[in-house]
Amino acid sequence: MEVIRNRKVLQDFIERQKEMGKRIGFAPTMGALHKGHLSLYEEAKKENDLVISSIFVNPTQFNNPEDLEKYPRDINRDILILENSGLVDAVYIPEIADIYPEKAESKHYDFDGLENEMEGKSRPGHFDGVGTVVEELFRQVQPDSAYFGEKDFQQLAIIKKMVEKTHLPVKITGVPIYRAENGLALSSRNQRLHEDRKEASKIIYETLNKVNDWFRTVTIAEIKERVTDIFDNQQGMHLEYFLIADENTLKETDFFYKDRSFRAFIVVVVDGVRLIDNMHLD
Ligand code: PAF
Repeated sequence: MEVIRNRKVLQDFIERQKEMGKRIGFAPTMGALHKGHLSLYEEAKKENDLVISSIFVNPTQFNNPEDLEKYPRDINRDILILENSGLVDAVYIPEIADIYPEKAESKHYDFDGLENEMEGKSRPGHFDGVGTVVEELFRQVQPDSAYFGEKDFQQLAIIKKMVEKTHLPVKITGVPIYRAENGLALSSRNQRLHEDRKEASKIIYETLNKVNDWFRTVTIAEIKERVTDIFDNQQGMHLEYFLIADENTLKETDFFYKDRSFRAFIVVVVDGVRLIDNMHLD
């Protein structure tokens, strides 16, 4: 596996691959790799000649400086995971100046309102930061396809919208959420939870399954009350939000419509760690 640590080296590498007519699959990350990331590479490997990943903790998508500071970083461990996976041909680990040559600042995007829902309300500016870094990485890596986890479903929708608006020739694929055995969605943030708290956090997935069972027989207002009650009774857990939204517009809904698809979205803060999850409602 090639470990590429600056933009110039990446450029030469990409040029060589393009000359050979290789199809490039790309999965950008912020490191702290886990099995969820490996599932992105597996998908990328099936559909491409070459798999590239990147590791870059993007400052412009953190609206909370403490969150940025606490974000787990261990590049050597990550490189070892990538090497051992046998799934990745090259990893790009840019310096900040490779991505933001002048100032670490976001561009401002219009994502047709997707940016104003859910995470957009809780984390102002977050999606401009994500759009900026992903657009820049796409311009540098020039992938044919790129892979993102459905855990960050709103991020996936935003990236699809960014590609549509910028006309970048990249196919975006969403990869299903990778869950621990107890159902907890894998996330780099889980590293900050003690084992017993990880076990307790399975209640998030259990709740989403209950919501799926209640869907279409119980009103949304009643479902929301039930979910609130569940988390009121959990020590050390704070339900930041729970809602059901149209899967395409991401707008919250109070009613079900037969011809539209819906998804439940939840954010729970467990011992100060913000856990996010979602589920398509059948
Ligand atoms: O999901 C992530 O890890 C990040 O938001 C991404 C897409 C790598 C952009 O920094």
